[in-house]
Amino acid sequence: MTVNETNGRSRQEELGQFLTATPTADFMASMFGPLPRVVRLLDAGAGAGALTAAFVRMVCEKGEGVNEIQSTLYEVDPKILDALQTTMRECQGRCRASGIAFTFTIHSTDFITEMSSKLAGDLFGSLPPAFDAAIANPPYRKISTDSAERRSLRSIGVETSNLYTGFIAIIQRLLVPGGQLVGITPRSFCNGPYFRPFREDFLSLLELRRLHVFESRLAAFREDSVLQENIIFHAVKGRNQPSELIISSSSGEAGGEVTESIFPFGEIVHAHDSEKFIHIPSCSSHGTAKETMDGLTTSLAELGLTVSTGRVVDFRLKDALRKEPERGTVPLLYPCHFNGGTVHWPKLEARKPNAIMDTAETRQWLVPSGMYLLTKRFTSKEERRRLVACMFDPDQVKTEWVGFENHLNYFHASGHGLERDLAAGLFAFLNSTVVDQYFRRFSGHTQVNATDLRTLSYPDRNTLNAMGGEMTALDLSQDEIDQLVTKHLHACR
Ligand SMILES: C[S@@+](CC[C@H](N)C(=O)[O-])C[C@H]1O[C@@H](n2cnc3c(N)ncnc32)[C@H](O)[C@@H]1O
Repeated sequence: MTVNETNGRSRQEELGQFLTATPTADFMASMFGPLPRVVRLLDAGAGAGALTAAFVRMVCEKGEGVNEIQSTLYEVDPKILDALQTTMRECQGRCRASGIAFTFTIHSTDFITEMSSKLAGDLFGSLPPAFDAAIANPPYRKISTDSAERRSLRSIGVETSNLYTGFIAIIQRLLVPGGQLVGITPRSFCNGPYFRPFREDFLSLLELRRLHVFESRLAAFREDSVLQENIIFHAVKGRNQPSELIISSSSGEAGGEVTESIFPFGEIVHAHDSEKFIHIPSCSSHGTAKETMDGLTTSLAELGLTVSTGRVVDFRLKDALRKEPERGTVPLLYPCHFNGGTVHWPKLEARKPNAIMDTAETRQWLVPSGMYLLTKRFTSKEERRRLVACMFDPDQVKTEWVGFENHLNYFHASGHGLERDLAAGLFAFLNSTVVDQYFRRFSGHTQVNATDLRTLSYPDRNTLNAMGGEMTALDLSQDEIDQLVTKHLHACR
């Protein structure tokens, strides 16, 4: 009989007692970053100790310099304490076998009231403990405005309506700077209007490093059939949110594939959002991106095209560069000339030169005018997309020769421009969400090399031409581009 069965349904709900299955606990433990030699670990709402046990397994397997774990556990349910003791003895045995010291202290007291008093300084001479790491599956249950828990939390300036956010609010105060928390909680705090004060508190004390979601609502707690959407997060005590974080997802089935992507922090919590919603992009669409891309088999070479890095290395040709076009110069293009889907040239207000002298010496670095597709080699972290493509249209910028600077990649046909429809089709394809997401699966950084673009699979020439033929304008919205690309990629299957 499991502990949950012993406790019966209503008591289980009263305690918010939903135990973590071993594969989920192990997955959570795997999220910790480097740890100090002596780890003071907190497991608040410890249940039968599944999370501390997973942490211990991870440390014993990975090692990585930890030589002592001092574990502190809080659990109010007397019926589960024997099981918790047993698990801790097992942890001790496992650590001993791995040459790691393990001590544990079980507090069979209410975590919220005890820690709130310590944090509020109510208990004379009793400082709140400090922890290097915390692993938590806190109990969840609404707490009414006049409940003892609410009053305790209020005494430390925390106003929250659920036990789980109360637990997390306290845990984040007990971590030392750089201390880590891996928690599994309902996803409701990410956007629920009542959780706004909690989100503010959470994001001001913790730096988010990773968010993991389950594709199935039932997955993580299947045995208890809790209809909650759960989230796992890894966060570090500190005040500077990272520029990027990992978003991952899995079905929730044991051994299921984990899909991971990196997103700019600004896409997860929007800079000017006073609600501080935590947006979690759907990773299942990344799976779809892979399937779509796997269905494409045409190489760039088979399209008769190649992609090269812009040939003008500006600091080597300083003398030939001109801020403004003048007699004897040709256009020189930098990423700053990208303007939506097309090129805005000249851009006299920009700091970069707009022109390069066309001489016997510089000609070798120029290309004959034509329809070229350009991509940025470096995108800023704030930019929504990794792949940013735009068209150089000879009808818009009249010239015989043109210089592409080294911060650009350009698609060409043996050094010459592309046919219009093919270029427009490639433009749509490279700017589509499918390609961007596929790209993010393998590229964790913001640089897009010509080699990356050369090794990508493309739709065949007919499909690209058909896509391009339908492109009435280049300033389509992301949705319009995605619809067009999806329609043609499905049609070519
Ligand atoms: C969601 S369960 C998770 C148990 C365990 N950490 C796991 O992952 O399997 C939460 C646990 O917190 C305990 N709990 C509930 N309220 C508590 C409180 N105020 N202080 C300490 N523990 C509490 C419950 O009895 C339950 O065992």
